[in-house]
Amino acid sequence: MRNKILNINKLISYKTFIVKRYIILNENIRKIAINEIRINEYLIENQFNYSPKMIKVLISRKYIDIYFEKINTTKLNRKPLIKKRLSHILKKLHSINVCHNDLNLSNILSDGKNIYLIDFALASISSEYDYDYIKLKKIESWIDNGTIF
Ligand SMILES: Nc1ncnc2c1ncn2[C@@H]1O[C@H](COP(=O)(O)OP(=O)(O)OP(=O)(O)O)[C@@H](O)[C@H]1O
Ligand SMILES: [Mg+2]
Repeated sequence: MRNKILNINKLISYKTFIVKRYIILNENIRKIAINEIRINEYLIENQFNYSPKMIKVLISRKYIDIYFEKINTTKLNRKPLIKKRLSHILKKLHSINVCHNDLNLSNILSDGKNIYLIDFALASISSEYDYDYIKLKKIESWIDNGTIF
């Protein structure tokens, strides 16, 4: 979410992949982009299968382009299943000591069959999971009262 407010990246969508382009205006933006790459490498190394795979990275002086598998998103409408899967995915993430730190609806995608977490720009390798659980509770309450899905 914070990224969007600051408008530091652009998403370019192709048929089978998506490119997240960071425009390197300052050191802080570069650090966020590098963090997203580092965490995605870590997710691949640890066989975390609940996020679209990072395919490649192109770094130039002005831009950092991160290529991801594209998820063809559709709505999932079986509420209990979504809640169960979300909490399972978060447990898996935390079992490899990754905190997402930016759980919100725009960072949860569904292809109608599975659920995926995206946007690890603010993620960290740590065991301070409280913030993720607070956000999960909020999302679950939205699911329960029908605000979403
Ligand atoms: N791998 C993907 N497959 C399909 N759609 C994607 C993928 N990655 C990102 N998107 C779409 O692009 C949007 C923004 O992606 P992302 O969250 O990585 O960037 P962001 O700048 O942090 O955006 P936001 O501020 O909305 O969180 C997502 O909400 C989703 O709709
Ligand atoms: Mg996002």
